Amino acid sequence: MSFPADRPATWFVTGTSRGLGLELVRRILERGDQVAATTRSPERLLAALGDGIETSRLLPLTVDLRDDEAVRRAVRETTGRFGGLDVVVNNAGYGFLAAVEETGDREVRDMLDVQVVGVWNVLRAALPILREQRGGHIVNVSSILGLTAVPGWALYCAGKFALEGLSEALAAEVAEFGVEVTIVEPGYFRTDFLTTDSLVLPAETTAHYPAIREMILDHLKLQGSQLGDPVMGARAIIGRVLAGEGPLRQLLGSDAHSYAVAKVEALRANVEATALSAPATDFPAA
Ligand SMILES: NC(=O)c1ccc[n+]([C@@H]2O[C@H](COP(=O)([O-])OP(=O)(O)OC[C@H]3O[C@@H](n4cnc5c(N)ncnc54)[C@H](OP(=O)(O)O)[C@@H]3O)[C@@H](O)[C@H]2O)c1
Repeated sequence: MSFPADRPATWFVTGTSRGLGLELVRRILERGDQVAATTRSPERLLAALGDGIETSRLLPLTVDLRDDEAVRRAVRETTGRFGGLDVVVNNAGYGFLAAVEETGDREVRDMLDVQVVGVWNVLRAALPILREQRGGHIVNVSSILGLTAVPGWALYCAGKFALEGLSEALAAEVAEFGVEVTIVEPGYFRTDFLTTDSLVLPAETTAHYPAIREMILDHLKLQGSQLGDPVMGARAIIGRVLAGEGPLRQLLGSDAHSYAVAKVEALRANVEATALSAPATDFPAA
């Protein structure tokens, strides 16, 4: 099923009171579509949208994405209000900056709860609807750090790499039902992501990682000068959904593209360097 052309589409977007999620909601409403927008703060979402936008096709939903039943309820409310579901955007996420050995157990579980368990909850609730109607689009907002990893970002990368693996498998599973999956990989975007309102820092640090402390300070100073424009990012994501078919991965930003090229080259060199040694562990041919 391609994107509906004869009626307003229904979108379900997570993490919408700020940044990319907020811009997505704005653009979706401006298009004349319907949107269920999950957030921890509907007040902040409505205040951010302001008075100048028609909100009769908006369903703000207070949802703890980690709560399977709350997510199911939110999807039921969405189909109850709008009569169906066409596009799901798993957008909610946050950054966490620390060395691996500084990252606490609770911090690991919190990140994976939001970036993996939360997405899985949404998928379990939404997939039966899309599968039954034999159509729909799932957009999982990853990061260029879902493709390549750098020091100090291990926990964030662990969540996004997990999201990429899940999404790649999902895309192959649901293609036969006419359901499209897109993994969005933004570079740095000028949202709240790098502000201390969004970014989480470790409860405890050690003195052994001065380069990581410096990297964190540099990132906090980056706020306001990131290359990516969230308005253009939201437009690009919507454009990809409207196009229907396209590449599994949608890179956003020239910085993301350069990082991806470097990753592909490093991976190719690694694969080629093990071309002779890899078969050495095979059983001999019978
Ligand atoms: N900006 C970047 O540089 C960048 C780069 C690569 C990838 N990304 C990804 O893009 C997505 C959107 O981020 P953004 O740039 O728009 O950042 P943002 O301005 O900080 O917005 C993040 C959104 O995610 C939700 N969120 C944050 N922490 C959450 C938590 N613990 N539980 C549930 N929801 C939470 C928030 O939703 P509510 O407060 O409304 O509940 C918020 O609206 C994220 O997945 C992020 O990882 C961003």
